[in-house]
Amino acid sequence: MAATTNRYLEGQFAPVTEEVTVHDLPITGRIPAELNGRYLRNGPNPLGLDDPAAHHWFLGEGMVHGVRLRNGKAEWYRNRWVRSASVADTLGEQHRPGPVDGMDFAPNTHVIAHAGRTLALVESGPRPYELTYDLDTVGPYDFDGTLPAGYAAHTKLDPHTGELHAIAYYWARPDAVQHVVVDAGGRVIRAQDVAVADGPMMHDFALTERYVILYDLPVTFSMEAAAAGVRLPYVWNEAHGARIGVLPRSGTAADVRWLDVEPCWVFHTLNAYDDGDRIVLDVSRHPRMFDVSRPVGTGVPTLDRWTLDLAAGKVIEERLHDRGQEFPRVDERVVSGAHRYGYTATTEDLMGLLMPDTEDMEDLDDDAFGNALLKHDLARGTVETHEFGRDAVVGEAVFAPSSPDGAEDDGYAIAFVHNPDRNATDLVILPAQDFTGDPVAAVHLPVRVPLGFHGSWVPDEDTGSGR
Ligand SMILES: [Fe+2]
Repeated sequence: MAATTNRYLEGQFAPVTEEVTVHDLPITGRIPAELNGRYLRNGPNPLGLDDPAAHHWFLGEGMVHGVRLRNGKAEWYRNRWVRSASVADTLGEQHRPGPVDGMDFAPNTHVIAHAGRTLALVESGPRPYELTYDLDTVGPYDFDGTLPAGYAAHTKLDPHTGELHAIAYYWARPDAVQHVVVDAGGRVIRAQDVAVADGPMMHDFALTERYVILYDLPVTFSMEAAAAGVRLPYVWNEAHGARIGVLPRSGTAADVRWLDVEPCWVFHTLNAYDDGDRIVLDVSRHPRMFDVSRPVGTGVPTLDRWTLDLAAGKVIEERLHDRGQEFPRVDERVVSGAHRYGYTATTEDLMGLLMPDTEDMEDLDDDAFGNALLKHDLARGTVETHEFGRDAVVGEAVFAPSSPDGAEDDGYAIAFVHNPDRNATDLVILPAQDFTGDPVAAVHLPVRVPLGFHGSWVPDEDTGSGR
């Protein structure tokens, strides 16, 4: 294999260079008539790199890809860079108006809708950016002036109250993270600091009916690494310890209970719920992350259950499924309550992928993302596997319900799948109750969507129909 300049600029990671708009896309199968809205997905798509060799996947400017489904048709596909000030400069455009406070960046990690607005999100400092229905950038957004500082990549919407919860952290503020609650109308109603040490990375969290669950794990900001020019200066820090914080939803920092766990790393929550004096918490657990002393062979991320016994003050850790998998998602209607089903994408050891400075890792690149989606039935303890073609690559699957009050798995798992025959991407819609069967539909995009992070199914009733 020829020497590479940067694994994140090649193969399935390679950024696209054009923004395209395509109408009336070809379809195989039948798009369910009840799916009226947009499938949106965010991911890094670097623009104007000053030093390609030093680029890290997590740091590329955000590009949102969207497919609009309506009345059984795939009306459009669009991809748009989020216009941060620097993206606008590079594209020769005017800066978008809005509140930028210090840290400006084109959010690249998630895209959600809340209070009628479409928002691109990233952690560690920057504000969200608001997008139009057609994915053009409105500007940076601070929830009508109510957001005190930066925001977060991951949010949890309480389906009963309509409140949007997040944990915000900022590399330049290593001594605290912040629980932020936005009400159903789109205004921040709570911003509660929780003291921590060492500047831990806190990518996701969990929400139950009573609690917010924080992951204070041994990946912390490293000034040494930052000074050495490492673009993502977070490292495995065994001395930091590993603990789970249980914050009552309306509690203060003094109310947090911390429970120790075995040192590990969690990017993502499947879901969590209260069970008497216990909290059941399902996560995608990595054995380690960003460990410069052990960059290879540390193991795949698994689906694990942590049962937090608040009376005994301890955590019971168990493995639900040992195949490599990540990007856990549930039916959003069950978030904070008991879930039966979960969806994940197969992956390999992502630590090798995410440590750009290590050597001999090229073999991991092609295998880091897999070609299968998994559906877990956690009540029965069974797993169904939907395999795509041998050279296909699939990312996160998002669940879209068939109807507002249907059963938990009455709906569809929707994901971008790289189709190697066309060197382009299909939007695949799987029937969740016939998970191993044929997709109900595949929308054939004319272009490749680079591997990215997270997305949402946004029904038109949440945002209006854009016209
Ligand atoms: Fe994430």
